[in-house]
Amino acid sequence: MSRAEKLRAPRGTFDILPPDGRRRRELAGIAAELFDAAGYEPVETPIFEDTDLFARGVGETTDIVQKEMFTFEDAGGRSITLRPEGTAGVCRAYAEHGMHKLAQPVKLWYAGPYFRYEAPQAGRFRQFSQIGAEALGSDDPSIDAELILLLRDLLERAGARGVRLRLSSLGTPEARRAYSGELREYLRARESELSDDVRARLDANPLRAFDSDHPGTRSVVEGAPRLLDRLAPEDSEHLVAVCALLDDAGADYELDGTLVRGLDYYTRTVFEFTSDALGAQSGVGGGGRYDGLVEQLGGPATPGAGWAAGIERILLASERSGAPGPAPVFVALEEGEDARRGFALVRRLRAAGLGAEMEQAGRSLKGQLKHADRRGARWVVIVGSGELALRDMTSGEQRPLGDEGQLIRTVTELR
Ligand code: HAM
Repeated sequence: MSRAEKLRAPRGTFDILPPDGRRRRELAGIAAELFDAAGYEPVETPIFEDTDLFARGVGETTDIVQKEMFTFEDAGGRSITLRPEGTAGVCRAYAEHGMHKLAQPVKLWYAGPYFRYEAPQAGRFRQFSQIGAEALGSDDPSIDAELILLLRDLLERAGARGVRLRLSSLGTPEARRAYSGELREYLRARESELSDDVRARLDANPLRAFDSDHPGTRSVVEGAPRLLDRLAPEDSEHLVAVCALLDDAGADYELDGTLVRGLDYYTRTVFEFTSDALGAQSGVGGGGRYDGLVEQLGGPATPGAGWAAGIERILLASERSGAPGPAPVFVALEEGEDARRGFALVRRLRAAGLGAEMEQAGRSLKGQLKHADRRGARWVVIVGSGELALRDMTSGEQRPLGDEGQLIRTVTELR
């Protein structure tokens, strides 16, 4: 008889197993607290969207749209795509639901799965999760600064190590177009030293040369003109205002004119947080301003800014936190004891707000104590023919308890 081949999770995906589920939930809890305090509302958009949304929103010349989307036809013949990022969907929802009629800015946050067909490696997956925020309807520099500081606070509270912030401005699309022409000329004059990839995109998107890790390209771009030196006065002023707010908040950052992002919708502010604790995929989170995106998707002219951070990367960059075990009380049964009594007791403990589990695999009392210890239980309640007994798993001390009421009082007090 041939044995069936063991099935595995698809390449670039992973299972979230204990204790990671708990760590992820803790991180989402920190994010929820920070966003609540800053007036951001949770939002959810579909996991798949019309392909056109990303082609128009993220940009035809980006790696994401050109080669990283999970796109397929549904049974009705429509081209749909698993979302590679969250901003386009949120802006679509803003336009679709006429959210420009609400008091502005509309501040939203989200967490969920995203999909990119990338070569898997440490910290880079084909299904990953992001926490993200978008603030729509205001171009005030305080929005940019607030968003940046929210991500900084999230990374700090999550315990991410070696975090650095790079900041720049991409100006207006017009300034960028003029600059692109200048940069293209500069690069073209040195074409033979560039990577094939950068050369192939010289026409469509010369700024991507700054993203390259090809040594020849890197040395060419070192001497290239910088967009930061070509900004229109109002864009420079916007950047200076963002920087002043970050300075007031005591945030460290590096102004870096070589910062380019892998999405086409950015205008003015762009930023990226990296962590030294990560390998090649050092970007933990990034974002920026996208003042033309809602309009590009058919909505009214609406400024916007936001960021997204990879949940897996934040956790990889953080010290493992010693999250407490699932339930502090374990109800053990003496041999021959009726499990119904234990079951009812567990329900009473839980109703009183105490985490409780019971023996459910037919172990001996000794086996149950060992199991409770492995589960990280703080106390074991022993249900037997005589009185209930409470065992402190840290000290090993055991004491009799009159009745269930006393048990609950005692455990609640000791807690
Ligand atoms: P992004 O820089 O493409 O921006 O992605 C944000 C973060 O998602 C990255 O910094 C990284 O932590 C994580 N990430 C991206 N791709 C992967 C992957 N393949 N595996 C694991 N983690 C990954 C955006 O997505 C924009 N929507 C951010 C934004 C919001 N801009 C304005 N608003």
